[in-house]
Amino acid sequence: MEFRDVVRRRRMVRNFDPDRAVPPEVLGRVLDHAVRAPSAGFSQGWGFLVIEDSADRDRFWTAATPGDTAENPWLTGMRRAPVIIVAHSNKDIYLDRYAEEDKAWEDRDESRWPVPYWHIDAGFASLLMLLTVVDEGLGACFFGIPPERIDAYRAEFGVPPVFLPIGAIALGYPEPDRRSPSLKRGRKPVDEVVHRGSWRA
Ligand SMILES: Cc1cc2nc3c(=O)[nH]c(=O)nc-3n(C[C@H](O)[C@H](O)[C@H](O)COP(=O)(O)O)c2cc1C
Repeated sequence: MEFRDVVRRRRMVRNFDPDRAVPPEVLGRVLDHAVRAPSAGFSQGWGFLVIEDSADRDRFWTAATPGDTAENPWLTGMRRAPVIIVAHSNKDIYLDRYAEEDKAWEDRDESRWPVPYWHIDAGFASLLMLLTVVDEGLGACFFGIPPERIDAYRAEFGVPPVFLPIGAIALGYPEPDRRSPSLKRGRKPVDEVVHRGSWRA
């Protein structure tokens, strides 16, 4: 697929064919592309948990979503995804990397980081996975784990506390779904968000 088509076709898919597995080579390419993402100082301070087994997926949805979701159509569609990839960031890997000789921020002072690159890089990796999924003819949705569920999620899957789940990607072959009501907002035109030369005027 042309790259421009991949970008234009990408949308969050929230319902999947539960009986169509993600081929291992496709999942392999998705993960391979994730680690091609750029990262500050080439820190690569990310980690990915891949959940494929049906019982494990059940454990994920129970741990990582609020308890009152029995009749939630969003969850019903998402639970049909045959694969979940949880992307994590690890701040310590960046602080350690930038304390090395070539960067020389031995104080590990977090005020040096007005923008938390550890989250940005895990986000870049996630976007590459989303685009790869489209290129492979599948669909995916990136979604957050609510803050009050993060500890339960970590405990369920043995994720070390230094890894923060920045979001999860459900993926599989798409089935018809309900578009997000957020889309009613419309896409902001380029000219509204791009400032050429100066932010004034
Ligand atoms: C950081 C981030 C968090 C998101 N969290 C959720 C979520 O929790 N649940 C969900 O259904 N979609 C989530 N989305 C998807 C957005 O709703 C979606 O990207 C947006 O409405 C634009 O639609 P599109 O991606 O289909 O073009 C998230 C997207 C991003 C980038």
